[in-house]
Amino acid sequence: MATTACLGCSTRARAGEDPPGSDERPQKGDLLVFSEGDQEGKLVTAADLKVGGPPLHAWPKDPTTSVVRSASRLNEILIIKLDPADLDEKTRARAVDGIIAYSAICSHAGCPVTAWVKSDVGDKEVFKCMCHNSEFDPRAGAQVVFGPAPRRLAALPLALADGSLSVAGNFMGKVGGTQPG
Ligand code: FES
Repeated sequence: MATTACLGCSTRARAGEDPPGSDERPQKGDLLVFSEGDQEGKLVTAADLKVGGPPLHAWPKDPTTSVVRSASRLNEILIIKLDPADLDEKTRARAVDGIIAYSAICSHAGCPVTAWVKSDVGDKEVFKCMCHNSEFDPRAGAQVVFGPAPRRLAALPLALADGSLSVAGNFMGKVGGTQPG
C-alpha cells in the first residue's frame, strides 16, 4: 500500500477502546504477528521469511496478555531475512540467521515505509518510503541511501529460538519522523 501523504501522523492507529499495553513500544519477549495481508494476526516465524526479501510487516504482541501493540502506528515493524554475507559488520552482529528488524516508520515525515524496490542509486533492493522517496539499506543498519530522510530507521533486536521470533530489546534509535507531513 503506497501513500503519497503522511497518513495518520498521530500516534494512534485507530480510535476507540484499546486494551492496556496496546500502544506501548515493543518489549523484550514480545512475539511478532503479521500486521497486514491474508495472515494478519498470525505469528511470524523464521519459516515465513525468504532470504533476500521482501520484508514482512508486523506488530509486536505481548505473549502474556496476547495484546497486539497496534494502537500506535509507531510500533509497526519491518522484518527481513538477508544473506549474512551481505550485511555490514554491525548489522550482522545483531542479525539472527540473517533476520533483522526495523521500525516501519520513515524518519522524514513519519510515513509508513511500504516498498521493497531497486534503489535509485544502486542495483540493490532497498526499503523505500513512497511519500518523498527516501531509501534505506537494511544491510547497513537501514542507513539512508537516497532522499530527504535525515537518519536511519530505528533497529529492533530480535531473538530466534526453535524457529520462533521474538523481540530481544528496545528500539535502537529514534522512531518516527522529524518533519511535518
Ligand atoms: S515521509 Fe518518508 S520520505 Fe518523507
